Amino acid sequence: MQPIHILNGPNLNLLGTREPAIYGRESLTDIKAMCAAAADALGVSIVFEQTNHEGELVDQIQRAGKDGSAIVLNAAAYTHTSVAIHDALKAVAVPCVEVHLSQPAAREAFRDVNFVAPAAAGSISGFGAFSYVLGLEAAARLAKAGANANE
Ligand code: DQA
Repeated sequence: MQPIHILNGPNLNLLGTREPAIYGRESLTDIKAMCAAAADALGVSIVFEQTNHEGELVDQIQRAGKDGSAIVLNAAAYTHTSVAIHDALKAVAVPCVEVHLSQPAAREAFRDVNFVAPAAAGSISGFGAFSYVLGLEAAARLAKAGANANE
């Protein structure tokens, strides 16, 4: 099975020091290590990427569509603004699990707009770094189901 691509949007490179009361004290490197351990336990491989640029995130989604079996996506602020990311998710054949560290629905009203959720198989929010582990588990199930369906 092709790897599950875990993609991270803007400002997530600052996790650990960025508003820790909201996003927790784990760095993105810590989260990558948690995902690598979870991937081993699930018997899947991962690609883990971060970018601060919308077009680069679109490129990463397109690459995941070609070289991946599923996407775990924390599009960060682009969740609330990006038609381009919505369209990229719609354009690829692999399933996407949306993840967030915080619970956007319990925050500012501008976070109620969400361009990712309508293009995702499902969403996991509010569990801090553990959202990624849950998201990876969901993505692995979807990827394995897809791989079996193609056999
Ligand atoms: C976030 C939530 C978004 O609203 C915010 O813009 C982020 C991080 C999260 O993981 O909680 O940058 O995606």
